[in-house]
Amino acid sequence: MPENTSTNLMIAKTVSGLEPILKAELDAIGALNAEVMNRSVSFEGDKACMYRANYLCSTALRILLPVHVFEINAQEDLYREIKEFPWEDHLDSDSTLAIDAVISYTVFTNSQFVAQKAKDAIVDRFREKFGKRPSVDLDNPTLRINVHLFKDTCTVSLDSSGQSLHKRGYRKQTGIAPLNEVLAAGLIRLSGWDKKKPLLDPMCGSGTILIEAAMLASGMPSGYFRSDYGFFKWKDFDQALWEKVKSEAGALVKAPEDFRIVGFDKSVMSLKRAVENVGFAGLDRAIYLKRAAFEDSIPPSAEGIIIMNPPYDERIELDDSVEFYKMIGNVLKRKYSGYKAWVISSDLEAIKFIGLKPSKKYKVFNGPLECRFLGFDLYEGKKSITFAD
Ligand SMILES: C[S@@+](CC[C@H](N)C(=O)[O-])C[C@H]1O[C@@H](n2cnc3c(N)ncnc32)[C@H](O)[C@@H]1O
Repeated sequence: MPENTSTNLMIAKTVSGLEPILKAELDAIGALNAEVMNRSVSFEGDKACMYRANYLCSTALRILLPVHVFEINAQEDLYREIKEFPWEDHLDSDSTLAIDAVISYTVFTNSQFVAQKAKDAIVDRFREKFGKRPSVDLDNPTLRINVHLFKDTCTVSLDSSGQSLHKRGYRKQTGIAPLNEVLAAGLIRLSGWDKKKPLLDPMCGSGTILIEAAMLASGMPSGYFRSDYGFFKWKDFDQALWEKVKSEAGALVKAPEDFRIVGFDKSVMSLKRAVENVGFAGLDRAIYLKRAAFEDSIPPSAEGIIIMNPPYDERIELDDSVEFYKMIGNVLKRKYSGYKAWVISSDLEAIKFIGLKPSKKYKVFNGPLECRFLGFDLYEGKKSITFAD
């Protein structure tokens, strides 16, 4: 990005199923011409917009800045095109780089091989021009580069985020099956929570849904606790502009209402992790935590919204997943009338045994796991209905 005010095309990556939510977030920060694509949203914006997208878009995994797009007809085209690009505008011989490659329907069959070829092309260019080459640092490079090959089009982008944006910086403790922060933020937004009604996660684990909800309610930027972004090491990093983006967003942060957000978990260890994470985020006054099994729980208010991520019988094994999901349905029906409940699960068979007809359903991915995110209206005296897919 040579000029602060020039407008560039960018790509925000996200989790499958959250594209429209991310588009709305990008529209809200002033991004232009945002368009939903597969697991990503394209948009246009200037440098401030790129900083804001990284800092504020809770459902973005990465913000990529395409710098070179070309056609690939044969494997040699990749090396030649990448070598011809003026990488010295972005990197020095003594800096470090990392390459992520993503391929589909192309002449290449191995993404590692593509990353290797792209790396060779860049370092060969430096060696020939300057007699010295940048080295590879996969964890903390000066520049992270994304090579995306789709059919015969190769898009080479600079990764402005560096580490994935789901690494918010507040989660010091995780359990066996923590929810990705970006997915948690997306689920809260998909649920349509108004940021005011009491929100309960009765199987809260390390507290991800609760913390993301409290951050959303208080207008806290998703990057509030994060200390590093890829663009910090870019040659054109504008510290003053970054400080301005942060202070403008910081001015909108308000204290969330006390104890409108509640978490239960039956496991002592899980609750301990949640307490630590909530404490680290400074959200103790916003989030009330209690050790309780869902089946024995007492609703914290007469109405509200439940968002829960029960075990799927994958990373956390269940003795009998059908009985477990039946229990969830029974407790919702018996104790939580007046609430709207949302459940995410990849156990597509067992989830039917909740025994309520969902009023809304979304397909989302939790890592590689295809999940359903189902919304149930729990009116007073609601009759149970067998769920039909
Ligand atoms: C998939 S994990 C939740 C992960 C959480 N969303 C996070 O990001 O860390 C499921 C949680 O449900 C809890 N759990 C299992 N059965 C429960 C029950 N009957 N009542 C309350 N919590 C339960 C487990 O202890 C575990 O922490």
